[in-house]
Amino acid sequence: MAPGPFEGTLVRLRAREPEDAPLLFQWFNDPEVTEHLAMRYPLSMKSEREFIESVSSPGYAHAGFAVETLGDRRLIGGVDLLNASPENRCASLGIAIGDKASWDGGYGTDTMRTVCRFGFEMMNLHRIQLEVYANNERARHVYEKVGFVLEGRRRQALYKYGSYHDVLVMSLLEGELQLEDRP
Ligand SMILES: CC(C)(COP(=O)(O)OP(=O)(O)OC[C@H]1O[C@@H](n2cnc3c(N)ncnc32)[C@H](O)[C@@H]1OP(=O)(O)O)[C@@H](O)C(=O)NCCC(=O)NCCS
Repeated sequence: MAPGPFEGTLVRLRAREPEDAPLLFQWFNDPEVTEHLAMRYPLSMKSEREFIESVSSPGYAHAGFAVETLGDRRLIGGVDLLNASPENRCASLGIAIGDKASWDGGYGTDTMRTVCRFGFEMMNLHRIQLEVYANNERARHVYEKVGFVLEGRRRQALYKYGSYHDVLVMSLLEGELQLEDRP
């Protein structure tokens, strides 16, 4: 049987739950995790709980998911398809594997493939777009590997750590998702 709409080969997507708050609070206060994210201020537990509450009923406008390992159902991150437009059939994507021990284990790639497949096959999206900081080499590699195409560079659009950084714009159209690694 084909894998369900929430399952990849390594991860499973599910709705975020109130019980996820302590781990998310820990991750999103960790400068190593937030280095390449828009977050820059300390995150309170209250804000984290409110965020989880606000996204706890995933739907078309905000399809937000917790990412857990397929085998032992361990929470390792989150991924979101945001601001979907029914006219344009386009949504924006954000991902964070917050569990640093899981980095470079293939989970981010599988999460991207799973959420994009969900976007195309379950939400009838035509286009998924994202922004990535130019110095986030790992994320750029993953996005290119699953088929995202570089569209442009917002020069010095980000100021963080005392200097300006470029922000890259990438997108994936339906039919472009690479479900397998190329040899
Ligand atoms: C970016 C992120 C989603 C990637 O997830 P991941 O589980 O670490 O990624 P994977 O293990 O699936 O793949 C990592 C790939 O990047 C490669 N990589 C690692 N560091 C790299 C670097 N400095 N330069 C180029 N490639 C790199 C790995 O070799 C691997 O490639 P391969 O599978 O072709 O061998 C995850 O690390 C993360 O959430 N980081 C913190 C938050 C973040 O940056 N989010 C994205 C914001 S746009």
